[in-house]
Amino acid sequence: MTTATTGTRTAAPAPSVGTAHTRVEGRDKVTGAARYAGEIPFADLAHGWLVLSTIARGRISAIETEAVLAMPGVLAVLDHRNAPRVSTDYVGLLGIPPDPTCAVFQHDRVPHLGWPVALVVAETSEQAREAAEALLVHYEQQPHDVEFTGEHPDAHPVDGHMPAVTEKGDLDAELAASDAVVDEEYTTPEEHHNPMEPHAATAHWDGGRLEVVDSNQGATWVIGELANLFSLDPASVRVRSEHVGGGFGSKGVRAHQVAAVMAATVLQRPVRVVLTRRQMFSLAGYRSPTTQHVRLGADADGRLRALEHRSVSLTSTVHEFVEPSAGVARVMYDADAHHTANRVVPLDVPTPTFMRAPGEAPGSFALEAALDELAEKCGIDPIELRLRNEPDRGPVSGLPFAGRNLAACFEEGARRFGWADRDPRPGLRREGRWLLGTGTAAASFPAGAAPSTATVTAHPDGTFGVRIAAADIGTGARTALTLVAADALGVPPERVRVRIGDSDFGPAMIAGGSMGTRSWAWAVTAAAGELRDRLVLGTDIPPEGITVRSDTTAAIGALAPAERHSFGAQFAEVAVDPATGEVRVRRMLGMFAAGRIVNPLTARNQFVGGMIWGISMALHEEAVRDRASGGVVGADLAGYHVATNADVPRVEADWIEDPDPNDPVGIKGIGEIGIVGAAAAIANAVWHATGTRHRNLPIRPDRVL
Ligand code: MOS
Repeated sequence: MTTATTGTRTAAPAPSVGTAHTRVEGRDKVTGAARYAGEIPFADLAHGWLVLSTIARGRISAIETEAVLAMPGVLAVLDHRNAPRVSTDYVGLLGIPPDPTCAVFQHDRVPHLGWPVALVVAETSEQAREAAEALLVHYEQQPHDVEFTGEHPDAHPVDGHMPAVTEKGDLDAELAASDAVVDEEYTTPEEHHNPMEPHAATAHWDGGRLEVVDSNQGATWVIGELANLFSLDPASVRVRSEHVGGGFGSKGVRAHQVAAVMAATVLQRPVRVVLTRRQMFSLAGYRSPTTQHVRLGADADGRLRALEHRSVSLTSTVHEFVEPSAGVARVMYDADAHHTANRVVPLDVPTPTFMRAPGEAPGSFALEAALDELAEKCGIDPIELRLRNEPDRGPVSGLPFAGRNLAACFEEGARRFGWADRDPRPGLRREGRWLLGTGTAAASFPAGAAPSTATVTAHPDGTFGVRIAAADIGTGARTALTLVAADALGVPPERVRVRIGDSDFGPAMIAGGSMGTRSWAWAVTAAAGELRDRLVLGTDIPPEGITVRSDTTAAIGALAPAERHSFGAQFAEVAVDPATGEVRVRRMLGMFAAGRIVNPLTARNQFVGGMIWGISMALHEEAVRDRASGGVVGADLAGYHVATNADVPRVEADWIEDPDPNDPVGIKGIGEIGIVGAAAAIANAVWHATGTRHRNLPIRPDRVL
């Protein structure tokens, strides 16, 4: 036995939160010691390979399984005729029904190309793949429609996780009374989030308990969905996901986990299902294309009288998912007449899903580009225009802002970027064959917290163990929580070991909505603080340690209603070659007000990563859907262009002091805001360089010419 050396009786170390720390699991990751879901060894492991539909709409008329079952190593073929039944009659995450896409093999209908029609299970992955490719599936094909055209007779409002429509004031009257009007349509293409680590799950039954080793954004989320789907007691399901190689919104419950559970149940042995890169293009979700109509009306001094933001996105025929692009206008700017609407058109395509900054990323492109056009029409500097339209309450909610330091972001960002010297006239600066321009845009993303539980244990050797069902999808969450726990305990981070990614650690928020670290840190702080209070000097610590468990449900529920968001100002400088249409981003600066920054090293990575994705969004990313087949052309990372090193110039991200007074650590959230406004800043810079507005992303060379 030893005695506690924590607490106020000993000199507390300097705070860890706010100091740069490399990832605690970094060495494991770069040496290969960190194992990912698709590579963890299991005795007696079988491998499943998904067979996806080759038609975009119709019915399965026959599946010739006999020949495949005779192939070497093949153990089973699961399809709609023999697969275990699952139920989608429940309310899932965010209070919305689940996407039935994950309920595989329940019927013979095919609602899009790349729909899972069978799982071939074999002794090895190679045998499963060979047999899957040999499986003959016959279809009755029906005509399909995959063409997104924006406005469409079937477009209808869908609430999703926010109201579809908000309206106040007389839009036409205010537009008629305006001195300057912008009335434009903006489009963004279908975009895919393909994390480096493909989706992978291994399911097995262990003494009456279902265990799934998985790559996901939240173990609690996945057990909840699997328990509902398979009508199991959540306590009889365990999900582990120690290391996750990226998520971006795509790693919830999808076809592969469900297929793996079905096969493990039928075969009573461990079964692994891994998605291929190509399969991810139809099974991992994606961002819908959007068509957005923005109308702004302002007085001569730039004050907004009218703001209308209407967005249309697509969804599948089996589930309604809305990309809520008009939502960002409800936070950013007020106007006497203020109308927003999110609508969807169902097509014969896979269901889109959350993709980094869902809504805000495409929405900020349209709104912030329109603001830039209004600034030009009013003859007002684009930053000044935004400052003149800073609302003091939520434009739609009427709620006070719990911190809105957007003006400070613009002031500090403008100073560092050198904005004051800018000549607002377009098309004037040349450097050899290049036309140069600069642009700016505002960014915001909701800053929320969700109830979570954590346990913190004091061990006799003076170390502390933290357990929470958090997910580190590459963000550095594990490291951030180590620093948070160290400060709450009053010990150096070297004495804290954080374990995450196990649903047995209790319910916790997912790594999503930019809410993970804040939600988990709150729970860790609560448990660690209580433990620290208990450990007065001289407390005997038994061999099993002293453990405190927290649950933040009540504390988070007691937060007063407010508009809670992180904010930021994006700046970009571009060079455009008018002969080739090539656009090069030369430098970017993002200045953020995003709460207290836990780990400057990994936080900077988060912001910069989002901004680089903004370069991709502005210039490169575009999934092209083939009308004839209904699938994505070039469904891989060669055909789907993303920014590479050569496309990424000096990208700087920094932040201003902005601790959230309503959070025990001062955290807001940084996960998604880096991409918000980034594409608009680049598009606005391209206008400044060339004098041409680009309202359709990506700004490809052929569009520039
Ligand atoms: Mo994020 S799109 O909430 O994973």
